[in-house]
Amino acid sequence: MPRLVGKTCLVTGAARGIGAAIVQAFVHEGAQVIVTDIDEEGGRAVAEEVGGDFHRLDVSSEEDWKALARNIPQLDVMVNNAGITGFEGPGAPPAHDPENCGLSAWHAVHAVNLDGTFLGCRYAIRAMRAKGAGSIINISSRSGMVGIPMAAAYASSKAAIRNHSKTVALYCAGQGLAIRCNSIHPAAVMTPMWGPMLGGGPDRAEREAAFVADTPLRRFGQPEEVAALAVMLASDEAAYMTGAELTIDGGILAGSAAAPG
Ligand SMILES: NC(=O)c1ccc[n+]([C@@H]2O[C@H](COP(=O)([O-])OP(=O)(O)OC[C@H]3O[C@@H](n4cnc5c(N)ncnc54)[C@H](O)[C@@H]3O)[C@@H](O)[C@H]2O)c1
Repeated sequence: MPRLVGKTCLVTGAARGIGAAIVQAFVHEGAQVIVTDIDEEGGRAVAEEVGGDFHRLDVSSEEDWKALARNIPQLDVMVNNAGITGFEGPGAPPAHDPENCGLSAWHAVHAVNLDGTFLGCRYAIRAMRAKGAGSIINISSRSGMVGIPMAAAYASSKAAIRNHSKTVALYCAGQGLAIRCNSIHPAAVMTPMWGPMLGGGPDRAEREAAFVADTPLRRFGQPEEVAALAVMLASDEAAYMTGAELTIDGGILAGSAAAPG
């Protein structure tokens, strides 16, 4: 029996990577899915493939969220997945360490990752209130649980998502609503996000291997593996789970030292 039959689910940043994999998995479980992204071409392609709707949504834009709320006033599952590292532009990655990160670069990452998640949670609570039930899934990161010296804004924004997820969980429970909110903390999942960090060329495989050398499972994760966790949190099987944080990181956070042995 598919696990998400009868549920309307919205995923942000769903044109590719983890978001697209979540869309595929949700549809496989019988959900009706709304694909959103700023990448209209990619988002429409994903929606077309699964028979879902596409809406252009910049998660950092309050106006976009208001327009979405007018079009889609009711929802069962919300996945706040859209996120950036700050290294997306062409050329050499800009400095994002605490000493040299520019204020506008800091704000730009927080606008998408943190403001986007805040606005997505606010929209979702309102869209779930009529039924009094729903599941909000926030994609944080392993970087929200430890310091990341060269990606200060990313780490800060993901840590704030972790905390805000618990605030949302407690707020909804306090309101007598069965609206659950949990965070997922992936690490090293192979998606286009890694392009600027791993680069291309013949030695890319070597850089990939070096990157996961300290990961206990010694490999990158796959977007489908994160999607499987999202399915579980979206389904009624997780009805008693709220305010939880789930790591999916090949074991990195299992010990104080990353290397096993
Ligand atoms: N890949 C990993 O290793 C990893 C690890 C930890 C956490 N995450 C998190 O998982 C989520 C998905 O990451 P991914 O690896 O699939 O990344 P990705 O770069 O492959 O995909 C991100 C998607 O978000 C969209 N997006 C960017 N800015 C947006 C905005 N303002 N509004 C709406 N959409 C926007 C992009 O167009 C893209 O389709 C992110 O929140 C990321 O931080 C990823």
